[in-house]
Amino acid sequence: MQIASHDSGNATHPFTAKRLSDALAAEIEGVDLSQPIDGTMKEAIYDALLQHHVLVFRDQALTREQQGIFATNYGELEGHVGRLRNGERYPVINDITNIQPDGKKVPELVNRGPNHWHTDKSYHEIPSAITMLHGKQVPSKGGETLFANMRLAYEALPPQTKARVDDLKVVHSWEANRKNVGETPATEDQKRERPPVTHPLIRTHPDTGTKALYIGTHIDKIVDMSRADSDALVEELMEHSIQPQFRYDHAWRQGDLVMWDNRSLMHRGNTNYDMANESRVLQRTVIIGTKPF
Ligand SMILES: [Fe+2]
Repeated sequence: MQIASHDSGNATHPFTAKRLSDALAAEIEGVDLSQPIDGTMKEAIYDALLQHHVLVFRDQALTREQQGIFATNYGELEGHVGRLRNGERYPVINDITNIQPDGKKVPELVNRGPNHWHTDKSYHEIPSAITMLHGKQVPSKGGETLFANMRLAYEALPPQTKARVDDLKVVHSWEANRKNVGETPATEDQKRERPPVTHPLIRTHPDTGTKALYIGTHIDKIVDMSRADSDALVEELMEHSIQPQFRYDHAWRQGDLVMWDNRSLMHRGNTNYDMANESRVLQRTVIIGTKPF
């Protein structure tokens, strides 16, 4: 492995980290993720993730197995919530793709949820900590993954708003997400399988102790608040959080491995590409987190 010096202010990192926007994200140079990494590299990458929230490794060529091995350095792989047509679960390492099994391209809009601002699996008691997507096939234009730094968004709130939201609790549910994004309603079986959960509106990062807004389209309602007041407050906080000063929008290059921290970010896919003619295949691994507090 080529060891390069570091330019992001931490001399102990065995790679170069180049910041990609004022708000978040760094490009990491000098790491081949197809090879096993040692303890020093593992720690340095995690440290960089905590610092930058999104890490971009260019020019990788990872098999599912190699991506799985890299991912499990950071915890346990999370299963997919969706099911294939035969009723079985998607494989643990799966693709976000607009290509059907028969090879035809279909609009990704058949699954709208990922294209709305969210943080992965916030409708679970134990949501995702880290998500990794690897660009196997990417469109020539559009199809970006957009990120918002929810720690910065929280810190930028006026003091009176912080005081108002600091102790609020929020119900998240898969069912609410289906409604919020205009998907067909959840079935009774699906509702039973994924009951609503309650999380704090402001969560504390388990490793850095910093606070971040924990919101997204999986929200049903703020606890002890009327539907109208809850909807208005959630909308206000969402609008605040996706402002340009909190953003990094990742334009995919083939071979990118993008790794992000769901505990401090919201994200969404962009549907602004030619879905009928271009492929967008992102190989996904997700690491289970801890209960938000
Ligand atoms: Fe997602």
